[in-house]
Amino acid sequence: MENFHFQIPTHLYFGKGEERGIGAYLRPYAKKVLLHYGGGSIKKSGLYAIVTASLRDAGIAFVTLGGVVPNPRLSLVREGIALCRREGVELILAVGGGSAIDSAKAIALGVCYEGDVWALFNDDIVTGKALPVATVLTIPAAGSETSASCVVTNEEAQLKYGHTDNAVRPVLSVINPAYFCTLPKNQIANGVADMMSHIFERYFTQTKHTDVTDELCEGVLRAILKNAVKVYDNPQDVDAWYEIGFGGSLAHNDLLGRGREEDWACHGMEHELSAIYDIPHGAGLAVLTPNWMETVAPENQAIFGQFAHNVMGVQPSRDVEADIREGIARLRAFYRRIGLATTLTALGIDGARLEEMAKKATGAAFGDEYGQGHFKTLLWQDVLAIYRKAL
Ligand code: NZQ
Ligand code: ZN
Repeated sequence: MENFHFQIPTHLYFGKGEERGIGAYLRPYAKKVLLHYGGGSIKKSGLYAIVTASLRDAGIAFVTLGGVVPNPRLSLVREGIALCRREGVELILAVGGGSAIDSAKAIALGVCYEGDVWALFNDDIVTGKALPVATVLTIPAAGSETSASCVVTNEEAQLKYGHTDNAVRPVLSVINPAYFCTLPKNQIANGVADMMSHIFERYFTQTKHTDVTDELCEGVLRAILKNAVKVYDNPQDVDAWYEIGFGGSLAHNDLLGRGREEDWACHGMEHELSAIYDIPHGAGLAVLTPNWMETVAPENQAIFGQFAHNVMGVQPSRDVEADIREGIARLRAFYRRIGLATTLTALGIDGARLEEMAKKATGAAFGDEYGQGHFKTLLWQDVLAIYRKAL
């Protein structure tokens, strides 16, 4: 196990009716907030009315900015920064999913940065300075409600970059899983694929002696697999949503990766797909992940065997390679079971720009080939091979 530092400062308010307390929860942090949200699902569900009433009751002034789209855009982030400066906003409250939350985080960083906010993403400048961010989550998926990261699309440059700065880890997040019941099936599946990937990126490691986090990863994955099918078949199953909601936050609050080297190649490869083709992040991950697994499994059969046996329920045999193949086949079957595509073609992506994406994902396009991932560092030809295999 490697050395680690660990602190999870996000105060979670989890369960029935918690959203009604948002005004009171925010009072110690701000007198004026920006309420930031997406395309309107929060108005349909009644959450917007509840949150604004709670803010008013608590005496917190607010301005609003909606219109965040999946794969949130830099242009709206810039608009949000100008609005916050003009209005003297002290905290950004995102009500929605990963896109609204990430857009909020980027605004929070940008308000405290003198230069253009994109420089923070492009040049990976960690300022440690941001307005505080709080969230009310409406879709369990990205884990942004507890993470220190945000991912923004520069639509003009067709670049989608993540940026990590502890200053944007939310000070508090409210999760009432009852709000997940209105999610369309495709969003349920995309979210499940994303949260599972957040665990895979940590679980598949070359670090040895990681029993505690191995067990945590495997346990949370099994709980997600079990309950994902329940919410997919019956989106009104609130008990199952509680499990998925908690699992999705644990998947990405950093606990499961402590003491082990993390990978993140699938995320790096997927962001290229979303940047150009504007596909949902989770959908891209479901296609790439099994192909990545088949490519890198020979680098550490022990952990892939463990995955097959302890997560996918494969009976251990004498032939570990066969067990691994079966584990990956079961993962693909699970993705299909919840309606996810397992090829790029099915997502409407052809071979035309694969080389360009492989070069961007690895830095080769910019003359600095750092590669992707740590389990096995992939150079651009390796990434291209995975994209081609996934077609
Ligand atoms: O915009 P509205 O109208 O709210 O509709 C949204 C959106 O269309 C809808 N939705 C959300 N809650 C709903 C609902 N519809 C009905 N009922 C509800 N309760 O769902 C759609 C998707 O929302 P979005 O916020 O885009 O989903 P998600 O949470 O999957 O976020 C995806 C973004 O997060 C980034 C991804 O790259 C992607 O841009 N990620 C952020 C991470 C982080 N900050 O730590 C890590 C992840 O790896 C990921 O990269
Ligand atoms: Zn993700």
